[in-house]
Amino acid sequence: MNHELILVLDFGGQYNQLIARRVRECGVYCEVKSYQTPLAQLKAMDPIGIIFTGGPNSVYLDQAPKVDPEIFTWGVPILGICYGCQLMAHTLGGQVSPAQEDTAREYGKTVTYYDTTCKLFQGLPQEGISWMSHGDYMAKVPPGFALVGHTAMCPNAAIADEARGFYGVQYHPEVNHTQHGTDMLRNFLYAVCRAKGDWTMADYCRTTIAAIREKVGNGRVLLALSGGVDSSVAAALLAEAVGKQLTCVFVDHGLMRLNEADEVEAAFAPWDLNFIRVDAETRFLLKLAGETEPERKRKIIGEEFIRVFEEEAKKIGAVDFLAQGTIYPDVIESGAGEAAVIKSHHNVGGLPDYVDFKEILEPLRMLFKDEVRQLGRELGLPEYLVSRQPFPGPGLAIRIIGDITKEKADTLRLADAIYREEIVKAGEDKNINQYFAVLTNTRSVGVMGDGRTYDYTLALRAVTTSDFMTADWARIPYEVLDTISGRIVNEVQGINRIVYDITSKPPATIEWE
Ligand code: XMP
Repeated sequence: MNHELILVLDFGGQYNQLIARRVRECGVYCEVKSYQTPLAQLKAMDPIGIIFTGGPNSVYLDQAPKVDPEIFTWGVPILGICYGCQLMAHTLGGQVSPAQEDTAREYGKTVTYYDTTCKLFQGLPQEGISWMSHGDYMAKVPPGFALVGHTAMCPNAAIADEARGFYGVQYHPEVNHTQHGTDMLRNFLYAVCRAKGDWTMADYCRTTIAAIREKVGNGRVLLALSGGVDSSVAAALLAEAVGKQLTCVFVDHGLMRLNEADEVEAAFAPWDLNFIRVDAETRFLLKLAGETEPERKRKIIGEEFIRVFEEEAKKIGAVDFLAQGTIYPDVIESGAGEAAVIKSHHNVGGLPDYVDFKEILEPLRMLFKDEVRQLGRELGLPEYLVSRQPFPGPGLAIRIIGDITKEKADTLRLADAIYREEIVKAGEDKNINQYFAVLTNTRSVGVMGDGRTYDYTLALRAVTTSDFMTADWARIPYEVLDTISGRIVNEVQGINRIVYDITSKPPATIEWE
């Protein structure tokens, strides 16, 4: 890949991936690297510019992350954001101090004034809201720097040494709350670093296909296809590159949504590849019979999935490459500190131990989720597959509370399909990030016609979230909920009561199990 490169040097801030995504949205390729990466290694990557991210530390403390000061004599433009700005100031002879109560400690939306003769702000309004989050401030600006942005509390919200191509901002241009923040990043890329903007998905698609062909040669590739966005796009990319040399194994565990397995199969019909669909509903249901504990259900499905895949792989024999749909956030986050396990997520990460292969192929390793979707469109995958909401690996098994039977799965499938159909019809799918139905284990008394019923309660869940780590319940209009409720109790046998889940995460999780 011969793209212009921006390096995002990571100092542990919470918006690091967002910075990288914004840069790519501006048409410039970038990679996130730890601040500890040796300078020689960074130089070998030959970037056209560097962005220092924010971070939780204070630069004046001994153990604070630092950079090799030689980075400032290299001649590459640098933009420092928040901690990155303070680090630049501190290293180049300025002074950074803890903000006093009544001075420049700022959090949240702040009116900021910009010097629009500075390249960073050229063509933008002189005033706007910026998103601040800093407890330290620059008491003294380093020699050579000019003040190019200020707020009521802080005289140096932005600094610049235009001769050397160094810029620093105390606020976060990458978050949506900062007005024209993306335009400022674009100015850094195009006006300061003189980027040409050669990062497009069409180009990535072309060059990656060529690279895969070269790497794979006459070899054979095996991919476990789950039907999720990542593995589907990886499959389409590989199919386009190596066609019949690719075998996709799609394990249908019988706990997919209505018509989903057929849709996945149909999506791959245009490609000449080896597509193996394993209908394993019976064996999964048998293994799950009587099990009510959520984590056990997950384990059973994860283990059975591997077993089925392994059996298929044995039939195929040795392969040269095992392909996986790993994406860039997984790469950036791997090696991050251990967080408490709330739910053990099932994926196919454990497969390599079980399959005879020589090398791993991860063609989406450098892409963010929205880029993966774009690539899927580029490859001609249908929109319903490319833009689908997350669906957990264990599928409906964790949306049927208590023990799982085929009847319950069929009931839930139908109700869930009606729910999703009505949400789309009302245009609410644009505002909601994930929505699905849950078959609770509670039965209650109802009345239908002249008769008594004793049927299941269905819960509807819908959340808005940007990262699925925290979430709010979606405010679906009452009329829409009313239509959904009316249709489900009339059309789905076995359900006589509908409830709407109005809990955020935390304290609840998005899924019920
Ligand atoms: P929770 O329920 O933990 O879910 O708030 C956060 C996101 O993760 C999805 N999820 C899973 N995905 N395997 C998966 O692949 C799982 O076992 C699993 N459990 C939850 C969930 O749908 C939501 O998007």
